[in-house]
Amino acid sequence: MEISGLRVNGKRLQESLEEMAKIGATPAGGVQRLTLSDEDKQARDLFVKWLKEIDLDVTIDEMGSIFGRRPGKNNDLPPVFSGSHIDSQPKGGRFDGILGVMGALEVMRTLHENEVETERPVMIVDWTNEEGSRFAPAMVASGVWAGKLDRDWAYSRTDRNGKVFGEELERIGYKGTVPAKAWPFHAYYELHIEQGPILEGEGKTIGIPKGILCLHWYDIYLEGKANQVGPTPMEGRNDALVAAAEMILAVQSVPARMGGNMVATVGEIQNYPNSRNIIPDGVHFTVDIRSWDDDLALRAWEQLKIDFQAAADRNGCPMRLEETWRVEHTPFAEKLVGFLAQKAEALGYSSHPMVSGAGHDASYMNMLGDAAMIFIPSIGGRSHVEVENSRWEDCAAGADVLLHCVLESANEV
Ligand code: GLV
Ligand code: MN
Ligand code: MN
Repeated sequence: MEISGLRVNGKRLQESLEEMAKIGATPAGGVQRLTLSDEDKQARDLFVKWLKEIDLDVTIDEMGSIFGRRPGKNNDLPPVFSGSHIDSQPKGGRFDGILGVMGALEVMRTLHENEVETERPVMIVDWTNEEGSRFAPAMVASGVWAGKLDRDWAYSRTDRNGKVFGEELERIGYKGTVPAKAWPFHAYYELHIEQGPILEGEGKTIGIPKGILCLHWYDIYLEGKANQVGPTPMEGRNDALVAAAEMILAVQSVPARMGGNMVATVGEIQNYPNSRNIIPDGVHFTVDIRSWDDDLALRAWEQLKIDFQAAADRNGCPMRLEETWRVEHTPFAEKLVGFLAQKAEALGYSSHPMVSGAGHDASYMNMLGDAAMIFIPSIGGRSHVEVENSRWEDCAAGADVLLHCVLESANEV
């Protein structure tokens, strides 16, 4: 068969996504497959089984990332690879991450059943802990692989219950022995849901992001003075939650105050001792700042530090700030972005240029070599929620674009 006539099997892709969605399924139709949980392990086991069924050479690295390799005609040439993540948010959706892994698997299955020979090897990857929701930060395994994060620091990260990343990785049996160290690659592609409203609004099938915003994560710890709420007058209290409330409002208003294009969010908070009749004496909350303009994001943080100090002083609550994680904005490789547009057109799909506001492992890959992403529409623009949804035909369209981009790159010599 002519290579240009190859298509993925959309029904098989749908069935694989549906099978995966059973693992960690939530009553409201989403999934909860937190990094290194039992559900993560179960989904990994199924993924590895599927890789072996099509004779891929499977390796697990020290960070638990799973790789499957399909030889090319010339195995000295750096491979083309593609993938995403199996982990999910708490009460997350059935498409975030797993579409890119099942889409890449569908590409591999299509190459396998059609006995397609490529010049270069083709690889598939599931990156450990892309979400960063159980263990901060996000994209940790691709960050270590890219040499941007320290492996032992990643191992030492703890979740809210004090469970340690490295120990959990071992517990689920996915602490591999292959060094989590980058090898040369020719191109990296990641298929993903858009997670926003643009494609649906424009009525387009394929999103072509020019790159990914910068991501800056911070952790704020506040100390107050606990006391009985009834007898303690309002004056002179050191209420850590009130200080946090003032800080959260400063975060909400900072994008407008900076007059630039960015978003800033407090998504997580812990309040201690969290009793309605005790003045809070400890608060931890997180700040997430994203922009195409890294400098603007850094200046916003400088402004927030001033705002936070003023709120801490007003409430007599000492604070500690942690600059947990930063990834710079990344413009994707123009050559690959061009392939995406060409392949979408050749396959008869409408496409739309955009940027990615969500973080992806493609950020770290793009620091080392050529990377690009393929987006498909998110129904209602909803993601990181149980109602996250995409049309099956759009999943297949994205996988077909992925197939032909992978083939284009894998046949370049
Ligand atoms: C990753 O899911 C992100 O936070 O964008
Ligand atoms: Mn994702
Ligand atoms: Mn996500």
